[in-house]
Amino acid sequence: MRIIYHEESRVFHLWNDSISYVMMVLPNGQLGQLYFGKRIHDREDLSDLLELTVRPMASCPFPGDRSFSLEHVKQELPVFGSGDYRSPAVEILQPNGSRICDFQYQSYRVEAGKPLLPGLPATYVEQTKEASTLVVNVKDSVTGICAELFYSIFAEGGVLARSICYHNEGTESVQLERAMSLCLDLPDCDYEWLQLSGAWARERHIKTRKLMMGIQSIGSVRGNSSHHHNPFLVLKRPSATENQGNVIGFSFIYSGNFLMQAEVDAHDNTRILAGLHPDTFSWKLQPGDSFQTPEAVMVYTDLGLNGMSRIFHQLYQKRLARGSWRDKERPILINNWEATYFDFTEDKLVKIAEKARECGVELFVLDDGWFGARSSDRAGLGDWVANLQRLPRGISGIAERIENLGMKFGLWFEPEMINEDSDLYRAHPDWVLATPQRAKSHGRYQFVLDFSRVEVVDCIYEMMAKILREAKVSYIKWDMNRSITECYSAALPPERQGEVYHRYILGVYDLYERLIQEFPEILFESCASGGGRFDPGMLYYAPQGWVSDDTDAVERMKIQYGTSMCYPLSCMGSHVSVIPNEQVYRRTPLHTRANVAYFGTFGYELDLNRLTEGEIEEVKAQISFMKKYRSILQFGTFYRLKSPFEGNEMAWMAVSGDKKTAIVGWYRILNTVNDRYTRLQLAGLEPDFCYRNSLSGSLCYGDELMNLGLCTTDSTAGEVTGGKEPCTDFESRIYVLQAD
Ligand code: DGJ
Repeated sequence: MRIIYHEESRVFHLWNDSISYVMMVLPNGQLGQLYFGKRIHDREDLSDLLELTVRPMASCPFPGDRSFSLEHVKQELPVFGSGDYRSPAVEILQPNGSRICDFQYQSYRVEAGKPLLPGLPATYVEQTKEASTLVVNVKDSVTGICAELFYSIFAEGGVLARSICYHNEGTESVQLERAMSLCLDLPDCDYEWLQLSGAWARERHIKTRKLMMGIQSIGSVRGNSSHHHNPFLVLKRPSATENQGNVIGFSFIYSGNFLMQAEVDAHDNTRILAGLHPDTFSWKLQPGDSFQTPEAVMVYTDLGLNGMSRIFHQLYQKRLARGSWRDKERPILINNWEATYFDFTEDKLVKIAEKARECGVELFVLDDGWFGARSSDRAGLGDWVANLQRLPRGISGIAERIENLGMKFGLWFEPEMINEDSDLYRAHPDWVLATPQRAKSHGRYQFVLDFSRVEVVDCIYEMMAKILREAKVSYIKWDMNRSITECYSAALPPERQGEVYHRYILGVYDLYERLIQEFPEILFESCASGGGRFDPGMLYYAPQGWVSDDTDAVERMKIQYGTSMCYPLSCMGSHVSVIPNEQVYRRTPLHTRANVAYFGTFGYELDLNRLTEGEIEEVKAQISFMKKYRSILQFGTFYRLKSPFEGNEMAWMAVSGDKKTAIVGWYRILNTVNDRYTRLQLAGLEPDFCYRNSLSGSLCYGDELMNLGLCTTDSTAGEVTGGKEPCTDFESRIYVLQAD
């Protein structure tokens, strides 16, 4: 990994074994982009990569030189209004009403390692040799606004992390109206765009389309990153597949409003922007103030989508997730939500836990309903004290009973929310986000606390910390069940109301940080009505997240498959629940529900007392299987093999670090009859290892399994089965392949 500045040509070149990023100081003194992609040789003068052409009608800064126009030049920190008509990376409203800036190159420095971003989640290093950071200083002399552009290149993999810090070194206040974290100008538009989008209960479905002239974007203005669009975007060459071809992935490490867009101009150049959503952002920058943008990560690979995902998985699992749970196998849990909803007593919970313990479950999670006057979703949020009618000895009492069973105890919170019917609301009605003289919209009968106010965060912290100090709580599920409306803080002046969305998220991060500092052994799982805030920002605090409220095995295939584009299996909360499924009323076999949930953190979301003896035996076998293989299922190398978005079958696999063990999940949605012979080409095996197939007992070399494929033909389908159990819809199999 190297970062070099060629003084004479004024070119910066950052590279490692996989990628190069090249930029230069342009003839007008601003910073321009030259290249991002597969590693290229360094040369003393790469400035000939600058694409200059005389174009009719272009506006030009230099009289007579029609070849240099900001309308066409690729830039690092473009602004609007001085010749570039594309969307800008920054917009600063100045006291005279102008928004034009001219960020001139000043200086640079190179730091070993990678600096932390104060108050914000970001990728990190444990040793300085893991990354190197280039900081380029640019300045607009009229306003005195300086920007530090951070570029961290990691030694391993095609990763570049970027963010910008603005400083007002002028004498007047300005309004930062747009502060994107990343701008990348690509020289063509021959890409397919891939996004992860959906809605509640069908989050992160893969959606693709051809990149087109004009603007295409995804984003959120809901206050959370949302069920609707994940802060993640891929540009892939049309010929790229899962295992080969050029792919660039963009991920924004943030949990609130965001915008990611591609703008293809009239000459097929593509500008990518990623950052805080400018529609809901404005920040007053007084003289002496600084503003740090969140971090955006770019990944390049020529090894296709699986290649890109492997880079993100490794980075986010090891250098974004933190804490004592980062590298640990995750406990198999049982959660009482779908088993009881609000209808429980302590004894009922303990009965559920006892049965779970008998089956081998390790952690019991008490979900919503244990606090204040919470007997339905109409009351109690904000009152984080145990309801003694349900839990006579409080949280300590039930936690002790669970611990005595030999299990760990986990607890649900929804820290950012408040019901009107709560003691906290009665005491502090002005602590909610609400616009003066306007009605407050409800969401699940609850309002959003104003986490931009430190006293609000303090109060919730104290309530939560009191419980965690008194009771033995090993796990927290942190929920968030509505988006923000009427966003306005009673504590901020009018000109700062544009800051509330971002300050809110900073408050959320602050609360998480304080809790993980005081309780470092607790495993946090983030949740927002399922996957409404399943983003890289959350991963920095909570190493796992509840992927979706939809626990149906068939729906989960798509959701988990899409999620795997960016996120590692160790962070995907995945449970087995009852049939008929409570979201889609579908009946899938118990083994298929488990076969899907294995590819994640694994747990149960039901009352095992209601299962038959035969089913209990199956559950016990599932739990033993998961315990035996979870190190591979959660921390192995993951490959997508067959997409549920493209056909009747889905398949994926995880391979151990030494490649001796591979676990293949194969799933068929609807049964077929008299079907063709089917084989599944595997990936990531060692060609020379000979693997024993756990289902057939056969021995095959890795090269056969990857090139010819694993036989998945189902000889019973469509035949008279002669008393054997026939195959059904929603069939699935797990193959364990073991080499000596
Ligand atoms: C939404 C979550 O996604 C569910 O798992 C559950 O915790 C409920 N909230 C509780 O209200």
